Amino acid sequence: MATIGIFDSGSGGLSVYREIVKLLPYERYVYFADNAHCPYGEKSVEFIQDRARAITDLLLGRGADIIVVACNTATAAAIATLREAYPEVPFVGMEPAVKPAALGTKSGVIGVLATAGTLKGSKYLKTKGRFEEDVCIVEHVGVGFVELVENGILEGPEAFETVRASLQPLLDAGADRIVLGCTHYPFLRPVIEAIAGPGVQVIDPAPAVARQTVRLLEKDCVQLDEGPFHIELLSSGAPDSLNRIFTLL
Ligand code: DGL
Repeated sequence: MATIGIFDSGSGGLSVYREIVKLLPYERYVYFADNAHCPYGEKSVEFIQDRARAITDLLLGRGADIIVVACNTATAAAIATLREAYPEVPFVGMEPAVKPAALGTKSGVIGVLATAGTLKGSKYLKTKGRFEEDVCIVEHVGVGFVELVENGILEGPEAFETVRASLQPLLDAGADRIVLGCTHYPFLRPVIEAIAGPGVQVIDPAPAVARQTVRLLEKDCVQLDEGPFHIELLSSGAPDSLNRIFTLL
């Protein structure tokens, strides 16, 4: 049995856990929410790198064989330094799914919702550069989305108003594909889809990240045994939000 360590600034990474556990139901999971420091979106790269190292140490201490950085912002800021600092540890990271959106768009416009940190990241900028000759890429920070999810507000007028404010500019620009570039945002997907309407496809990279996790585990020859379901939920702040979202799953 493998131990899969997963972390995020908060509960958002559970949207990635949800996809991994579909493919690997019998592994042991340790999930860490750094909610005492959430949101990461506007924090400095150095701060996030320090947190990512501390959390990696903690997850390795709990026996993690692989670490899923279930946070686009932390991936953008820290995954390269993590891979350098822990060369023996397999890391899986997140990246906004620009490619499937660019290949699928009919209108020629794709919208990316992410945090400021992710949109500034060199990996995202490079990917964007590869596709922006062929399609128009419009971006917006999902202002207040992380706070909605952390507070368990996944529907109702406040959720609709907050989501609309960041999504509408992308729809007005003609986007027919909306890329969810932050792991908190899938929990708002029903609201996003209701506002965007049926002509717009919402794209979440979590299923692809789950497949990549399976590939890396198999490559490392970890036994994929049957066994009892096991997850440990840890957080640096109050556990309420994490427990609330986990109960939802
Ligand atoms: N869930 C995170 C992400 O994917 C972080 C959001 C935040 O803390 O700002 O980017």
